[in-house]
Amino acid sequence: MKVAVLGAAGGIGQALSLLLKTSLPAGSELSLYDVAPVVPGVAVDLSHIPTDVKVEGFGADSLDAALAGCDIVLIPAGMPRKPGMDRADLFNVNAGIIKTLAEGIVKNCPKALVGIITNPVNGTVPIVAEVFKKAGTYDANRVFGITTLDVIRSEAFVAELKGLSATDVKVPVIGGHSGTTILPLLSQVEGVTFTDEEVAALTPRIQNAGTEVVNAKAGGGSATLSMGAAAARFCMSLVKGLQGEEVVDYAYVAVENGDAAYFAHPVRLGKNGVEEILSYGELSAFEEQAKNDMLATLNKDIQEGVDFING
Ligand code: NAD
Ligand code: LMR
Repeated sequence: MKVAVLGAAGGIGQALSLLLKTSLPAGSELSLYDVAPVVPGVAVDLSHIPTDVKVEGFGADSLDAALAGCDIVLIPAGMPRKPGMDRADLFNVNAGIIKTLAEGIVKNCPKALVGIITNPVNGTVPIVAEVFKKAGTYDANRVFGITTLDVIRSEAFVAELKGLSATDVKVPVIGGHSGTTILPLLSQVEGVTFTDEEVAALTPRIQNAGTEVVNAKAGGGSATLSMGAAAARFCMSLVKGLQGEEVVDYAYVAVENGDAAYFAHPVRLGKNGVEEILSYGELSAFEEQAKNDMLATLNKDIQEGVDFING
């Protein structure tokens, strides 16, 4: 298993790379790429951890070498928010970064499973897809927007509210990854019931959790440690799928005849990435309304990504 982290010297990149160094199967290779000159040092640092995962660092001029033969590529490269910004404000700077990295994937590992973390995810995932389409290498089953942070936050917040062990709580989250496009399905949390007031308070808390971190870090960036944990968890689902295990996880994927062209769904993962997009099931009246209300925003975000490549 060869896994590349693009943006590996950043806040997310370093946390994620640490977790992958300690959790990828023995014999795996971890390829760390960044334009920041510290990246070889990050690789040396990690290489002193005694696991059977080989780590190599690649600087600005070595994208091709970093990506050669990769099975999985995870992308946290790009600028994070500061207080007062929306994720959409990151589009102008991050869109070009994502385009360049997607072109590198086309050239060096067109069959890789690609997990996109860089914001705004609602628009960066369509950018990657459009670059792949133009190159003739697109396979919708291999491109994922990583929305696992919304899932793990929901698990943490529900466990806290209800006094449960966080490891026992599972919360489906559908839609996109920004504000109201994040839709936790609290009506589907097994063994837990919520009052209308709890749903009305917890839903926006989950939707605004990224802003909660941005404001708490007071100009020092956005979520990095929880995102590193989320991306590592999602990567291990991809790894298990590639190894032939049956895994179901949530991700923002291309959906034919769905609510929008891209929408976070439960997906069955396997040797080819998405083996099946699963139904998210029945929604409560509150969730149905919230879903319908978010679609205009989500569709606009998606179109911005598509137009960046084709417009
Ligand atoms: P950071 O600034 O700490 O790290 C970003 C890294 O990207 C830096 O090391 C930088 O050198 C590198 N980089 C910039 N341009 C690059 C390029 N062309 N090629 C390779 N590397 C490049 O930022 P961070 O806190 O790690 O956040 C990274 C991104 O992830 C941001 O866009 C942020 O909004 C996003 N994010 C997404 C989620 C999510 O749930 N999807 C969660 C948190 C953050
Ligand atoms: C998050 O949800 O924490 C990330 O998308 C970062 C951000 O800007 O909120």
